[in-house]
Amino acid sequence: MIEAALKPKPGDMLQKSMRILLIEDNLGDQRLIEEILNESSGQSDLHWASTLEDGIEAVKKDDYDLILLDLNLPDSDGIKTFQRIYDAAPMMPIVVLTGTDDEKVGTKALALGAQDYLIKGRVDSYSLGKSVRFAVERRLAAEKIERYQAKVARSELFASLGTISAAMVHELSQPVTVINLGIENVVHILKESQCHPEAVSQLEDSLRSVHQVNEIINKFRKFGRNTLEKRVDEVNFQDAADKIIKFLNPSMRQARMEVTAELSDMPPVRCGRDDIEQMFLMLIQNSIQAVGGKKGCKLVISGTFDGTDVDLLFSDNCGGISMEDQKKIFQPFFTTKLVSGGTGLGLSIVQQIVSKYDGSIRVSSTDGHGTNFFVTLSVDAEGGGKNE
Ligand SMILES: Nc1ncnc2c1ncn2[C@@H]1O[C@H](COP(=O)(O)OP(=O)(O)OP(=O)(O)O)[C@@H](O)[C@H]1O
Ligand SMILES: [Mg+2]
Repeated sequence: MIEAALKPKPGDMLQKSMRILLIEDNLGDQRLIEEILNESSGQSDLHWASTLEDGIEAVKKDDYDLILLDLNLPDSDGIKTFQRIYDAAPMMPIVVLTGTDDEKVGTKALALGAQDYLIKGRVDSYSLGKSVRFAVERRLAAEKIERYQAKVARSELFASLGTISAAMVHELSQPVTVINLGIENVVHILKESQCHPEAVSQLEDSLRSVHQVNEIINKFRKFGRNTLEKRVDEVNFQDAADKIIKFLNPSMRQARMEVTAELSDMPPVRCGRDDIEQMFLMLIQNSIQAVGGKKGCKLVISGTFDGTDVDLLFSDNCGGISMEDQKKIFQPFFTTKLVSGGTGLGLSIVQQIVSKYDGSIRVSSTDGHGTNFFVTLSVDAEGGGKNE
């Protein structure tokens, strides 16, 4: 088992708390806002900046769901404080905190793009809570639009790549089969004719390479076919994982790593068995391939099913992925395994499957340590993806 403290639960990534930046120099006001926030909005992650410059630095470095801005700071005052922070982060919602005699400035800030203004001294859990809720709604709406746009872009990309893959498989399969059979026959004939053993050995090397080409063709075949295939079975996730773990046992032993699935509590799920097995295969294979000689490597697969959503977590300690690569791993053909013949299609195939079930896949990884893949699949009462 991976250390409990390090091990998140399936679905963890979805419970994000609100990130709020409070730009306020007065310590008393900072404390007050913190107290009111605790009362009103539940889960929030409050950050402080006490000057405008610090605030601008903070919004350039990090993403916030809401900025609470005192207009009178040691290094800036009045409406220009708002303008400068707005220029630095035009997409972040800003709620302005004004003095009692400063309502006009608050109205001006609204006209210039502030989400709201609150009068200091009259801020209560209701008004602040409302601003926070508004920011939450805004974030959810933006995330929804982003997810939808990404989904459309992905399905267009997958559709064209699927067509190219299918055409490529069609063109390559037959000649590769002919080469394969030809070499097998010659090896057979040479073995019977007692020829030089070196000739047979070289041909057997060629045959292994042809098998490798065949595996790559098969990956393209899956990629081309997945978008079309829809099946509904009663899938026992523990059995599906065990089947793949057994299949990958030789490579696991070679890598000296352990894979365990803790899915026996999950009730059967009505979805495509091939899809689920394919997903397990791609994700488990990736962990095994990441080991690269390290000792004590493990992958633990855990999951839940609440009747609608399947949440799975693939958690390994096989070395992790650099921040730079994490941004690229879901792109078709991105691979760090060029030497060993990776095609960079494994995670794209998983993503294709996940989008079929109107789900999501996210990665969280610590370079030098390990990787968590969070997978969510939505399954309606009839089985299959909601979007089918
Ligand atoms: N568990 C993991 N640990 C470390 N790196 C990973 C892990 N999973 C994926 N990666 C990284 O993501 C990249 C893309 O993975 P993907 O499965 O799409 O392609 P691949 O494994 O390189 O090739 P293929 O799966 O087609 O044989 C990998 O090359 C690897 O760098
Ligand atoms: Mg892979």
